[in-house]
Order: sequence, then C-alpha cells, then structure tokens
Amino acid sequence: MTSPLLELDHVTKRFGRVVIAEELSFSVGAGETVGIVGPNGAGKTSLFGLISGDLAPNAGQVSFAGKNVTRLDSAARCRLGIGRTYQVPRPFVDMTVFENVLVAAQQGGGLRRKASYAAAAEALEQTGMADEANVAAGRLGLLARKRLEVARALATGPQLLLLDEVAGGLTDPEVTVLVEIVRGINAEGIAVIWIEHVVRALTAVVSRLLCLTGGKFVGDGDPATVLAEPAVREVFLGGAVTAALTGSSLEAPVDGPIESAVDGEETT
Ligand SMILES: Nc1ncnc2c1ncn2[C@@H]1O[C@H](COP(=O)(O)OP(=O)(O)O)[C@@H](O)[C@H]1O
Ligand SMILES: [Mg+2]
Repeated sequence: MTSPLLELDHVTKRFGRVVIAEELSFSVGAGETVGIVGPNGAGKTSLFGLISGDLAPNAGQVSFAGKNVTRLDSAARCRLGIGRTYQVPRPFVDMTVFENVLVAAQQGGGLRRKASYAAAAEALEQTGMADEANVAAGRLGLLARKRLEVARALATGPQLLLLDEVAGGLTDPEVTVLVEIVRGINAEGIAVIWIEHVVRALTAVVSRLLCLTGGKFVGDGDPATVLAEPAVREVFLGGAVTAALTGSSLEAPVDGPIESAVDGEETT
C-alpha cells in the first residue's frame, strides 16, 4: 500500500488551557477531498497551521509525501506541495491580481521567470480570474478576493490544498461558482482539505467529513453519515442537519455555536 499524502500522528497542540489537538491522528490520501467542520474556536484554523507549518505542535509528527515535515517551516512545506488559503484574505492591495499570483508562484512555489508566469496564468484560469488579471487586488469584491486567495495557493503548485472558509460570506450563486472551481482543482489530482461552515459547499465536493471539537475528531466518513451522527449533531449542527441535507438550508444556523464568517473580520 502506498503511504498517505498527509499524515498526522498523535499531534498535540495547546494554547495555555485551550486544547487545539489532543493526540490527533489522521491521514489524507493523494487526490482525496476531505471536509472539516466544527464549532467556532474548535481549532480548525490552527489545525491548518499545524499542517502548513505556521504552528509547531507540542507533540506528535506531521508527515507529507512520506517525509517527516514536523520541523519544517511553512515556506519549506509550501515548496513540498502544501498550499493554503487564509480565512481572511490579505492580498497585496496595491498590486494587480496577476502580480499577487506571480509572487505566490515565485516565493511560495519556488518558480522563476517563464515557469512562474505560466503557473500564475494557469492559476488565474483555474479560478476564473483571468479577466481580472490587471485589476488592483484592493478593488476586488468578496468573491473575487476569495478566488484570488485560491489562485495564490494554487500558483504554488500544491499536491494538497487547504481551504479555510473560502465560501464564508458568499451568496448562494457565488458558492456554486466556488464549488465548481474546487471540483476542477480536485479533478486535476490535487487533494483538498476544506474547512467550511457552508455545509452545502462541502457536501457538494468532499467525499469524507470530519468534525473537530475539543481537540479530537468526532466522526470520520461519508458526509451524510457523519452529519447524522448524534455526537456531531450535538456539538455542531443541532437540528439543522436534516434541513441542510435536504437543501432547504444552505448554511449552518448562525445563532448556534457557529460563526457566520464576515469578511475582513477575524471571528475567533
Ligand atoms: N496563536 C495563538 N495563540 C493563542 N491562542 C490561539 C492562537 N491561535 C488560536 N488561538 C486560540 O485557539 C482557539 C482555536 O482557534 P482557531 O484555530 O482559530 O479556531 P477555529 O478556526 O476552529 O474557529 C481559539 O480559542 C483561539 O483564540
Ligand atoms: Mg477558523
């Protein structure tokens, strides 16, 4: 059997008394699509930090493509093929869309000259941003900024793409656009781990869902099955699960323990 693309082995991370990950173990295969849900403050974004190298674990090991990357920083992990988006996009606002993506290809992906231009152009095509290539990033609307965030991660040439609430704050038609983009990316063989409160977006893309709470995963498997698990309903979705699955509700309730992602504002 081939080794998984990403493997977390008994990873523990605490901020004081807040437990983000408690001996967390899980693996993701090449080309796999995995969704992660969990209440506000559960540590989902921090989990991405542990995978991408922005955060160092207190204990445990992170492996990527058969290599122990626990001690590698985020730049080194990016070069190896871990690309991530950030919950709050922070593009270089005075630079054009193309320049933003070019920086990612060069600094994140380690590409130079023609290869970096080609990677940047390709990332803009994949995210439907080619027509806005010469627009200053500061002038973009929310959907375009989310697309640009995905394009920047893509331009680094990832084998694994980490998406942190890229659908947050978007309208339903915009979510549909984003879902198609992520599907297209995955169709090229790139594995995707997607943290998202917009359950409809996740269920349209991922084949596997996990719920993070209290530093542990509750549930791991087929999205419909996981969302129906009593423990997941209890900690995360409450009574909204059925509605979400039947399509009558597109998003988890905002009056529950769930953040409604407001762009430009860190909610945790
Ligand atoms: N660098 C940090 N230092 C201290 N506490 C942090 C840090 N990053 C996140 N936290 C805390 O860890 C918890 C989880 O945060 P986060 O990973 O952003 O959760 P989520 O993305 O699931 O909402 C929160 O209580 C947050 O305040
Ligand atoms: Mg978060």
